[in-house]
Amino acid sequence: MPDSYSTLDVPIHLDAVVRMTSIAFGSPAEPCRDWLVNKFGTPHLRVVADGSEVFAAGGVLPMGQFFGGRSVPMTGVAGVSVAPEHRGRGHSVALMSGILRELHAQGTPLSSLYPAASRLYRRVGYEQAGQHCEHRFPVAYLPARRLPTPVRRFTEADVAGVKACQHRGVARADGALDRSDYMWQRVFHPRTGKHEGFVVDDPSLEGGIGGYVFIRQEQLPSGRHDLHLSDLVACTPVAAEALLHFLGQFGSMANDLIVRAGAIHPLFTLLDEPRHLSIRFHDYWMLRIVHLEHAMTQRGYPQGQQVQLHLEVEDPLLPANAGRWVLDVRDGRATIVRGGQGLLRTTISGLAQLYSGQFSPRSLAIVGRLAGDEASLDAASRLFAGHGGQGFCDFF
Ligand SMILES: CC(C)(COP(=O)(O)OP(=O)(O)OC[C@H]1O[C@@H](n2cnc3c(N)ncnc32)[C@H](O)[C@@H]1OP(=O)(O)O)[C@@H](O)C(=O)NCCC(=O)NCCS
Repeated sequence: MPDSYSTLDVPIHLDAVVRMTSIAFGSPAEPCRDWLVNKFGTPHLRVVADGSEVFAAGGVLPMGQFFGGRSVPMTGVAGVSVAPEHRGRGHSVALMSGILRELHAQGTPLSSLYPAASRLYRRVGYEQAGQHCEHRFPVAYLPARRLPTPVRRFTEADVAGVKACQHRGVARADGALDRSDYMWQRVFHPRTGKHEGFVVDDPSLEGGIGGYVFIRQEQLPSGRHDLHLSDLVACTPVAAEALLHFLGQFGSMANDLIVRAGAIHPLFTLLDEPRHLSIRFHDYWMLRIVHLEHAMTQRGYPQGQQVQLHLEVEDPLLPANAGRWVLDVRDGRATIVRGGQGLLRTTISGLAQLYSGQFSPRSLAIVGRLAGDEASLDAASRLFAGHGGQGFCDFF
């Protein structure tokens, strides 16, 4: 095949990529062009092309993802598309392989994405790592007392404080995003419309904010409305209670509160009657270990554990990750060297599932994603204990 993987060359490729993206996602060309050029940014686009003929395109979004309390550099992949007349010939695999080789060469530890075609991403080493659910709760059933803690309107001066609060609130939930500016825009100004922000001050915290919520009211035919939240974070008990009661005060006119989260949202443990909560599974997100050494050493691990794991990993696409490794964890940090006995055997996609903490090593062994002796499975359980589906990778 004469086609090759490269960054996007605007004069040569942009028109073809706009057409391809517009057809792939069934949206008009001009909003697609605006998204690609002004929001995503053309330096973040990659193509598989032969001269001016573009077969496949997609974008990379550098950000971070929290694992073990540390932010690990992660590049999201989005907007993958193949021209309809060129589908079914391996162009999307070529694009994804090119992106992963490029990221590995840069030393990027991780990549995540939301798949519309899981089979494609499994082919290049991604695997399911967490859930994206829609949580819906009748506002009238929220507590709504007037509390002494004020909830005030968000202003642009609060941006740094809100970001500090989000870090504090989610850093221990494996898989939560350490958002880039692009991702933060999706909280402040999502495509669905402007959201109004409200914050709870807490001068004792760095950044001064103990919790916040961003709300969009969507009118219903009945004249009432739903409350759609683009983010809801509390990092102290006082802020958690204040925000729930604040939202409850919308109950005279609002029907449902709707928020995207992982399998659980920690604030909903404060509901008086959680049985009114309905949770709709939306999607899985997938994770790829791109640079094994960096992925293992840049994340955090539980404190108080001193554990050695002898891994043997298969990775046909990125052979530098493959083979035997000894992972040595102490005081919450890891070192990794080549060698060892290969007692815990997995593929690079099985390792992604272990790393995410969403599935226990024993569940992974049952479905054949991991194989090892009892001592190695126990050791892995101590290092990669998940948080019950609490970590939420925002949709991108
Ligand atoms: C999905 C899409 C990118 C696939 O591109 P493609 O070049 O035709 O795919 P490839 O020929 O490289 O096939 C790669 C693998 O994905 C699978 N695949 C392809 N299209 C698929 C689809 N629509 N649904 C599920 N799997 C699909 C193929 O079966 C193949 O796996 P296999 O070799 O194990 O059978 C393309 O159909 C497209 O642009 N669709 C619309 C946009 C979209 O869905 N993008 C993905 C956003 S996450």
